[in-house]
Amino acid sequence: MFRRCEDPCDDPVLMTRNARRAGPTLRLPPRLVEALSRLEGGPLDGGPVVRRIAAGVARLNRGLTRERAGFGAYLRDPELRAAYRAYYLATNAPKLFPVLDRLAAQGRLPAGGGRALEVGCGPGTGVAGLALWAAERGETWHLTATDALREATQAAAALFAALAFPLETAILDLRTPPVTPAPATDVAGPFDLILCLNVVNELPPAGDAALLDRVRGWLAPRGCLIVLEPASAAESRRVLALRDRAVATGWHVLAPCPAAGPCPALASADGWCHGEWHFERPAYLQAVDRATGLRREVLKATWFVLSPAAGEPSASAPTPGAGRLLARVMGARTDAKGRSELEVCADGALRRLELQTRDRTPENADFFDLSRHDLALIEGPGAQNPGIRRLGADDAVTRLEEVE
Ligand SMILES: C[S@@+](CC[C@H](N)C(=O)[O-])C[C@H]1O[C@@H](n2cnc3c(N)ncnc32)[C@H](O)[C@@H]1O
Repeated sequence: MFRRCEDPCDDPVLMTRNARRAGPTLRLPPRLVEALSRLEGGPLDGGPVVRRIAAGVARLNRGLTRERAGFGAYLRDPELRAAYRAYYLATNAPKLFPVLDRLAAQGRLPAGGGRALEVGCGPGTGVAGLALWAAERGETWHLTATDALREATQAAAALFAALAFPLETAILDLRTPPVTPAPATDVAGPFDLILCLNVVNELPPAGDAALLDRVRGWLAPRGCLIVLEPASAAESRRVLALRDRAVATGWHVLAPCPAAGPCPALASADGWCHGEWHFERPAYLQAVDRATGLRREVLKATWFVLSPAAGEPSASAPTPGAGRLLARVMGARTDAKGRSELEVCADGALRRLELQTRDRTPENADFFDLSRHDLALIEGPGAQNPGIRRLGADDAVTRLEEVE
């Protein structure tokens, strides 16, 4: 599951300060590109198609960021729905691949396939990601996509028809309290996996406890809930609050947090947390990015996996303990003359660590190569004492490669 990185990248472009070096590069599966082209009625990188997508993306980007308050049920608008599918679905579905790889490696997904539910599916982003990932592995999942909007579930059904994958759809409003006994038309668990992508930030925090209870009722005992939301500060903090609520009510965090308790980034005044992956943009996304001024060269998300059942310790996962700190890097490394600095999340707290170049040894050299969201094992006196900011020549720092 975890191994020490033995192949640090020596690409001079990637060696700049903020670059992400570890982890996979995400790509769009050709089957998705073909399905999207079919739905658009022609090649995605054709001029008129790019212009149409770009116009919708520009509106969506304004509505989902600066003009959020009045944006309403934007997926009711056919142009926005099509642009969402071609751009936001295409840049969100692949984010699931490394998360699913990790859960599969942890033995938390049924071998060969299982049952999955997506809530707030939009045009089918999560179920599409899962179906494409499963097809690559020869697995068969039974998928149910739900949303409060009929137009969204219809769009998901259309995408799956174009993908030639089976899909069930249902209308499900997460704000409507569940009825007991549940009507026969309700979605019925147990599900091995529930996907919740980019929807928590459209829901009021006051409903989080009820939402988590409802999801728990749908999950199999060892089932997992994947929550994946935008990486921007306000949206990230919003979903980290849901994570804290879950932890307070007995859920286990299976990934990516190095500690099980409340999120220290949320406890800080303005902290947030996100991961990022290199993305090999197809030509049409590059063209849309050029036209809109957006840049999806790197895909980012605040994400976590929750389960009612604890994760099993992996034989290869280093356990933190006396003199050993498992640390998740929280931001870009800062390199100043003679030293580098990092903020890490470790042992349920945020710590700022520094290593001076004169203290560099082969055992701690990884420190100078760490970037956002890397996981590192720090061993030695600096790990032992939470008060210590400066690591020294007698500390070892090892970047761990996670199965992603
Ligand atoms: C930003 S879109 C995300 C769509 C898809 N999950 C994705 O990641 O691309 C938010 C989705 O949440 C749905 N949604 C908002 N409030 C909802 C609610 N109360 N119950 C169910 N779905 C809801 C919207 O209709 C929309 O499809």
